[in-house]
Order: sequence, then structure tokens, then C-alpha cells
Amino acid sequence: MYRSRITGLGFYVPENIITNHDLEKYMDTSDQWIRERSGIEQRRFFTEGKDTVSLMGARASEIALQRAGLEPKDIDFIIFATLSPDYNFPGSGCLLQRHLPFREIGALDIRTQCTGFIYGLSIADQYIKTGMYRNILVVGSEIQSNILELSTRNRDFAVLFGDGAGAAVVQRSDNPRHGILSTHLHSEGKYAEDLVLEHPGSNLKNRMSIEIIQQGKHLPFMRGNAVFKHAVQRFPEVILEALEANNLTIHDLDLLVPHQANLRISKLVQEKLGLRDDQVYNNIQRYGNTTAATIPIALSELWEANRLQEGMLVCLAAFGSGFTWASALIRW
Ligand code: COA
Repeated sequence: MYRSRITGLGFYVPENIITNHDLEKYMDTSDQWIRERSGIEQRRFFTEGKDTVSLMGARASEIALQRAGLEPKDIDFIIFATLSPDYNFPGSGCLLQRHLPFREIGALDIRTQCTGFIYGLSIADQYIKTGMYRNILVVGSEIQSNILELSTRNRDFAVLFGDGAGAAVVQRSDNPRHGILSTHLHSEGKYAEDLVLEHPGSNLKNRMSIEIIQQGKHLPFMRGNAVFKHAVQRFPEVILEALEANNLTIHDLDLLVPHQANLRISKLVQEKLGLRDDQVYNNIQRYGNTTAATIPIALSELWEANRLQEGMLVCLAAFGSGFTWASALIRW
């Protein structure tokens, strides 16, 4: 059986920086509240006409491909995770396929929100292990600033999210000691409405109406406390599950790269697991929550800082809308 290895990483974030002070102009909030409750200091918002989810994914992919020493024609399959596709259909993977000179390869969109990148990595791992594909591109890309109502009624949600993209090249490796050791995927649909964007959906005859807009139901809804409570339980669970599945313990772990939902969540998870500050990577301060893109952006930054050393044990973990939660354990 083959092993899958991440051999290249890249990210792209829009140039438009929005600070907490910028948000104070639109809603009753403060830089202090946002920093204390989430750790976020700034985020990026896309520029219409310049950035699209698939184009941002393509920019991140170009860097990841270059670092892996591959060209678009070498890629066998595209996996694209996003909750904010360019179009309702077709999927953003197909749109990415036309942005770079790929062959006429398969392109799959993933809709598991914050866990999308890990779900994508898991799918890539299975295709590589079975020998079906050799080189797979896994992309997470989001434009969320245009579903944030910058107003006081939506302030708990609006201050948390940002736009960005990250990409990873996953390749077949002949070295059995390195690569993705295992992935672990979960969902619990009974909490779907605790973090949801319902409209436009297919369950109404009129997918969009004035009433829906007046009631603000075209905007995302989040029961923040419920998400927080489940997240701090599921993160440690799924990290320990990954370690146990490989007969390892938390003492073997070198680096945890958690989905960037809230710095307080990351800190509580770190505390529960007894990890040091230098063992948990956080960059939510600079980008906010970029949903499917947080983990590949974080990994790209670690790569650029030369912090991903061969032989390190790295765990990726995420929790989000669905609810879904997931982990991937990697021997770098
Ligand atoms: N600025 C200022 N005040 C705000 C605010 C904002 N942006 N958003 C909410 N508030 C107010 C509330 O209205 C509330 O006021 P009240 O006490 O007068 O009613 C007060 O702050 C406390 O609200 P609460 O919701 O209890 O705060 P919290 O400490 O739970 O933090 C979240 C709110 C959203 C930051 C927190 O619940 C959270 O991070 N949840 C998880 C979110 C998440 O990770 N989502 C993505 C999952 S992938």
C-alpha cells in the first residue's frame, strides 16, 4: 500500500486588510471585545472583480505546485473545499480546472465547511493509497465577507470571519515511514441549525423573497455558545482518537494545527491536552476564521517559516458547521 505525503503548500489572501477598528464604524463593537472573545485583530476582505473563490484557490495552488516541483499537467485530481462557491453550480473545482493548464481531470467539491480541508485530505489519501491517483491538489478557499452583515444585529458572527485560500499538493510516497498516518471524520446533523446559512435553499418554492431578506434569513445564523461548547469537547476527542489509532500518545505530538475558529477555543484545547504554546499554531489574529482555508493557510505559513521538519508528528484538527469534526495525523 502507498503512503500520501504533502509535498507542496501555498496560500493567497486578498490585499484588503480590515481591522477591528474598521468594524467599529459599522456596528456596536470594540477592538477590545473582539480581541478578548476571539483573539482576532484583523481579517482580509476580497475585492470584487479581482478575487473569486476559484481564482484565489488557483493562486494558492500555483505556489503549492511550484513548491512541490510539479506543473498543473502533473495533477490527477482536484478536491475543492468551500462553503462559498463562485456559483451554486457548477462546483468551484471545475472552475479551478479552467484557471490553470490542468488536464481534463476529475474535480470534486466538498461541502463540510470548517472541516472541508481535512475531509479533502482524507479523500486524497484514499485515492493515493489504492493506487488510483499519484498527485492530488486539495484546496480550501472562501469568500465570506459578502455574507457578513456589518451591523449590530449580526455582530457576533460578522467579527469572526474573513476571506482567504490555501492549497496542498498530496503525492504518492514510497517511504512508508512518512506521510498521512490516518484521518478521522465525524458528523452530527442534529445540530445543523446551530451554524447554518439556510437561504437560498431548495426546500422553498421561492428560494429567495423579500420576506426572507427582511427577516435576515439570507444571512448565516450561529448559536455561538453551542458551537463553542461542542468545539472544546470534539477537538480533544478527535485529536486523541487519531493518536490512539496509531498507538501514539499526546507526548509523541510535536505540532497541533487546529482549525482557526476562535483563539479561546484553541487555548482551551491546548490546555486540556497539556500542550505548550510552541506546539500549537495559531494565526487567527491576522486572518480571522477563513473556514476551509484556515488549515492550509496555517500549514503554508509553517512551511515558509521552515517549521515543518522531516520526522515531526503533526496533527490537523477541525470542528464546525454540520456539526462536523475531523483530524489527520501526519508524520512529516
Ligand atoms: N461586539 C460587542 N459585543 C458583542 C459582540 C460584538 N461583536 N457580539 C456579541 N456581543 C455581546 C452580546 O450581545 C452579549 O451581550 P449581552 O450580555 O448584553 O447579551 C455579550 O456580548 C456576550 O455574548 P456571548 O455570546 O455570551 O459572548 P461569548 O463570550 O460567548 O462570545 C462568540 C461570542 C461568538 C465569540 C463565541 O460564542 C464563540 O466564539 N463561539 C464559537 C464561534 C465559532 O467558533 N464559530 C465558527 C465555528 S467553526
